[in-house]
Amino acid sequence: MNPLRLGVNIDHVATIRNARGASYPEPLRAADLALAAGADGITAHLREDRRHISDHDIDELSDLCLKRGKPLNLEMAVTEEMLGIAVAHRPHAACLVPERREEVTTEGGLDVVGGHNRIAPAVQRLREAGCRVSLFIEADPAQIRTSAEIGAQVVELHTGAYCDALRAGEHERAGAILQRLRAGAQQAFELGLEVHAGHGIDFATVKPVAAIPELMELNIGHFLIGEAIFTGLAPAIQRMRALMDAARAELAA
Ligand code: PXP
Repeated sequence: MNPLRLGVNIDHVATIRNARGASYPEPLRAADLALAAGADGITAHLREDRRHISDHDIDELSDLCLKRGKPLNLEMAVTEEMLGIAVAHRPHAACLVPERREEVTTEGGLDVVGGHNRIAPAVQRLREAGCRVSLFIEADPAQIRTSAEIGAQVVELHTGAYCDALRAGEHERAGAILQRLRAGAQQAFELGLEVHAGHGIDFATVKPVAAIPELMELNIGHFLIGEAIFTGLAPAIQRMRALMDAARAELAA
């Protein structure tokens, strides 16, 4: 059984900081705490409009991850500006995501099939810079196939629709989406891709996702930062980690 890593997305610590235009709370401090609490890596999304993470945050997070010997996963749109920043920082991983200014969060997967001619050279450039390239996609057979064809090493499957359906009590719909995630993970694994998943995951939705055997990494942010208000960041991460481990143990049993 693959071990399942937990990447903690600290974007929304910066959201709170930026709401006041203050210098705190600091994403750097949250990242350090997350790593000490058992996170396997830090994920941060530098958006075109800099609504949360800033360029300076990326400088600091790069240094921290280097110092702690942990991976930084930079989520980024496929733009010339972001490619320049990624190539300059050479994070361990670069996860290409779709980005629209008017969206509240990353609402869907990257259209690798339709955007093939734009995305393939970006994947190549990031790989040449030494980044492990991940594409954030829906669990769709054509998107997965094309991701492998254009040289991505990783696909991150979008779990947002699954988590929303489960939270809304739409169990039949959630079951159908989970089935697609399972099939997608298997297809990607058979094509030689490393498989990650993320978006919208909380304590109530993590176990069925973590029980998909091909998965190697989950990236979780918004819920953990919110939960930290009530319990503290370290206990929130430790509970998430425990639920992930329990799902894997049940699978192995
Ligand atoms: N993975 C990717 C590619 C994302 O864009 C995000 C959101 O920034 C996440 C994971 C984490 O999602 P959430 O904050 O809903 O846990």
